[in-house]
Amino acid sequence: MKNLQFFVPRSGKINVDKIDHDHDTIVAALDDVRQNIDNPDYRTVKKAREVGNLLLAHFKDEERLMSDYNYPYLHQHMVHHDQSLGTVYRILGECELRNQINIEELRDLFRILIDDIFSADMAFSNYVLDRKRR
Ligand SMILES: [Fe+2]
Ligand SMILES: [Fe+2]
Repeated sequence: MKNLQFFVPRSGKINVDKIDHDHDTIVAALDDVRQNIDNPDYRTVKKAREVGNLLLAHFKDEERLMSDYNYPYLHQHMVHHDQSLGTVYRILGECELRNQINIEELRDLFRILIDDIFSADMAFSNYVLDRKRR
């Protein structure tokens, strides 16, 4: 299972350049940790924490962008981000206590981002598309 690459599927494109770019960057950073999970010279836990920081920054940027667009479901989206971050920090905290991260934990982090893309960001994508059509 370890060799299954993390990537954002084509169907996960939001068609807002900044958001898609962030998603790709975060997933690539997470995949870098996956590729180095057995590399003793690579600080996996520290790198995973950096991915967490990227995710936090991304969520904040996304919320700002949604606010600029007067997105009506901003509040729900923020709640989804907060819940996602709660899980992310729980995982990262456990890893930091053990000073080790395993593939299941990396997968969970990956799933959290993918879940936000498909269950929340996609709705914003449709909203933006709808506005352009009007
Ligand atoms: Fe996002
Ligand atoms: Fe989001």
